[in-house]
Amino acid sequence: MGLLDNKVAIITGAGGGLGRAYALLLAKEGARIVVNDFNADNANKVVGEIEAAGGKAVAAVADVGSVAGGEAIFATAQKTFGRADILINNAGILRDKSFIGLTEEMWDSVVNVHLKGAFCATQPVFKWMKENGGGVIVNTTSASGLGGNFGQTNYGAAKCGIWGFSNSLALEGKKYGIRVWTIAPAAATALSAGVLPPEIVAAWTPERVAPVILYMVSSLSGDKTNRTIFASGTKMMEVKMVGGPALRNTGNLTAQAIAAAEKDWMLDSKGLDFNP
Ligand SMILES: NC(=O)c1ccc[n+]([C@@H]2O[C@H](COP(=O)([O-])OP(=O)(O)OC[C@H]3O[C@@H](n4cnc5c(N)ncnc54)[C@H](O)[C@@H]3O)[C@@H](O)[C@H]2O)c1
Repeated sequence: MGLLDNKVAIITGAGGGLGRAYALLLAKEGARIVVNDFNADNANKVVGEIEAAGGKAVAAVADVGSVAGGEAIFATAQKTFGRADILINNAGILRDKSFIGLTEEMWDSVVNVHLKGAFCATQPVFKWMKENGGGVIVNTTSASGLGGNFGQTNYGAAKCGIWGFSNSLALEGKKYGIRVWTIAPAAATALSAGVLPPEIVAAWTPERVAPVILYMVSSLSGDKTNRTIFASGTKMMEVKMVGGPALRNTGNLTAQAIAAAEKDWMLDSKGLDFNP
């Protein structure tokens, strides 16, 4: 018995990197997998790997950055397996540049795949889940979106936007038994090839992140929803937005008083620790 017997999981951008590792682990646990990627060769290769290991999978070659792409992915799931119990929005690209050099194309292409892609891939699946007893959706943010990263204003904006999308989607999903998680993964993949220091590449394999996804989408996480987990190859932790102590405003709070009371309301600047 697998943890995901009888389930159908759609994974976007599953032709390589993290998505491939998620696909292989979920298939091992009994899920039938819809392997989306806009790279047909890579999507078909992952389908072949799943089938060679005794699992069931189908390729859905489409661009997640359009409504038509999202609908085509969902249609493949329906036509092949007749269900859509799990959706992992994972597809992504980088177009890094320090802010002054950032072009409109770099902004649009990154926001399109990540942020619009989450909308496009999710809407048809969410509708089906709503009408068919629920499901689990995982959206992919990033340490860059949650904490910032030099040269990634486009990517950070898109990834933090996904976090906001996820928070609201979780509230809507709760009405229909649809659980919504957000993952901020960190792994050595084609996407992070030039970004990660060589000494951590060996430990930060996508396979070490995949069990966090399995926890999120399986019954192991019960009815939990609306949570964000950072997961690298060397640690995992929950991430939450926190508010600092409140400074009361009775109608006469001045800028000078705010400055004078900094120690009473300002949070320390340590921030989140995404280091290994
Ligand atoms: N690797 C990391 O350290 C890291 C860190 C934070 C967040 N992430 C996020 O994790 C996700 C997976 O990243 P990865 O590191 O495995 O990258 P990757 O480049 O190895 O894999 C991404 C996959 O998405 C596919 N893809 C890209 N655009 C697509 C589109 N429009 N439609 C369909 N498929 C598309 C690519 O072909 C590729 O197979 C991304 O959302 C990324 O932003 C990764």
